[in-house]
Amino acid sequence: LRTLKRVIYGTALVGATYTGWSMYRNRNPAEQKAFDPSKKTLVLLGTGWGSTTMLKNLDTDHYNVVVVSPRNYFLFTPLLPSCTVGTIENRSIMEPVRLLMRHKSREVKFYEAECTDIDAERKELTLVRRADSEGSKGDREPVKINYDYLVVGVGGTVNTFGTPGVEENACFLKEMGDARKIRRRLMDSIESAAFGDVSEAERDRLLHMVVVGGGPTGIEYAGELHDFLQDDLSQWYPELAKKIQITLIEALPNVLPAFDKKLIDYTQSTFKENQITILTRTMVKEVKEKSFIVQNPDGTRSDIPYGLLVWATGIKAQPVVDRIRAQFAQVQTNGRGLLVDEYLRVKGARDIWAVGDCALSGYAPLAQVASQQGKWLARRLNSLATQAARENKTDVDVFNLIEEKSRPFKYSSQGSLAYIGSEKAIADLPFFNRNITAGGVATFWFWKSAYVNELFSLRNSTLVVSDWVKRFFFGRDISRE
Ligand code: FAD
Ligand code: NAI
Repeated sequence: LRTLKRVIYGTALVGATYTGWSMYRNRNPAEQKAFDPSKKTLVLLGTGWGSTTMLKNLDTDHYNVVVVSPRNYFLFTPLLPSCTVGTIENRSIMEPVRLLMRHKSREVKFYEAECTDIDAERKELTLVRRADSEGSKGDREPVKINYDYLVVGVGGTVNTFGTPGVEENACFLKEMGDARKIRRRLMDSIESAAFGDVSEAERDRLLHMVVVGGGPTGIEYAGELHDFLQDDLSQWYPELAKKIQITLIEALPNVLPAFDKKLIDYTQSTFKENQITILTRTMVKEVKEKSFIVQNPDGTRSDIPYGLLVWATGIKAQPVVDRIRAQFAQVQTNGRGLLVDEYLRVKGARDIWAVGDCALSGYAPLAQVASQQGKWLARRLNSLATQAARENKTDVDVFNLIEEKSRPFKYSSQGSLAYIGSEKAIADLPFFNRNITAGGVATFWFWKSAYVNELFSLRNSTLVVSDWVKRFFFGRDISRE
């Protein structure tokens, strides 16, 4: 028993020392080497899952690295739905990219800008500064920069399928700004419905919360909204809360088409218990300011009033991806993104790779895929450069060598997890050559621990856990900012 105690105390001491040292080191980065003109310049587009994981794993001793993104932070998207109702505070899942950059051995340049065009012949990119936080576009004269190697990790953008009125009237759930907007609009609708002279019809409209799209984003958002209603709104708006209706609309015969049938049934029955209405085989055709038009399963159309409408129907290619495709139009024939080979090289291009949602590599648009691709590419480039340095070669062509010296990229699925509300989650996990499925409260704890583990930094994990503890003791904040 005494030995066991010693082991426990010893482990705790080592753990605490290591954590303290990591925290100190994090806030006190070492001096960095300057750009080396003899090295190749590698430009990374984006600060999402693909590009940030690439930056994290890339050895900057071998390359001069430049990052371009309109977002100066990495966003942990799997917990974004939790930010729409305040289960988690926004900044807890954001990691400033400069923290990562300052810990690289060589300085990394960052442009807070959107890449709008590319000249592949001259290896030149056009960048436009993003608007400032007040919305002022300021000096937006385009800037040109050059690259030797380019990695495109710009993700996708929301797909409205050209449905009229969506851009103007719906909220999306893709970026942190979207979550902020949803939270504000939700409280707008509720406070407006609480106002004295509102008619019954108007109040019902304001309290009708609609989610379009039964993919994982729509399901997770509906689950979070239900929790907010159940745990918090019912306490602070007891009369109104009873009248809030949540409807989820899906064009296909069932929600979560990519999940196992058992999990689909489990989700649908949990939603039924939670009084979330699911309308399947129903397609939203137009979104107006206060109502939207659907095509019902029998082909008829209805006009349904709403207070808040969240549009979560998947993604399409970013405009800059279309610009890149246009340069290699003969081979880049798929409008959904950049066709890449098994080494993630953009087909038809030289010295350009693509990772994540913007790359058509045969895998689903998932964070796991993007981060594995970023890691794989960084490691390949590190190893090719190290080998070249060992052989005293200065001008190696890593774009061609990657095929000769590496095995193709292969995605290894870690399974799918989704939160469905009322402290239940679903999981579809690979197990040897089979998949095991699970749903319920235990899966919810697994979901929580998996995400705490996957968060970008110790700082993020600490903030997320403390948000969960805060919510447990004090509930979610209902103030309208
Ligand atoms: P992103 O992470 O989208 O990053 C793209 C980056 O490019 C951003 O920094 C953006 O600002 C930048 N950018 C855009 N345009 C330009 C430009 N013109 N120039 C320069 N930079 C540009 N996947 C999972 O596997 N598990 C989950 O649980 C999960 N949950 C999700 C929940 C939500 C709400 C959402 C929206 C998605 C979720 N996903 C999940 C999907 C996952 O987020 C994406 O697959 C992943 O973000 C793709 O990574 P990426 O690097 O390709 O793109
Ligand atoms: P999605 O593409 O997975 O689902 C969108 C759904 O919207 C589809 O089922 C589609 O039939 C439906 N739809 C399209 N147009 C419609 C209309 N007009 N009316 C009604 N329904 C309509 O999109 P989602 O959920 O945004 O996910 C995007 C990607 O991110 C996917 O690859 C997904 O797997 C991933 N993701 C994964 C998560 C997880 O693993 N927990 C969580 C969130 C996203």
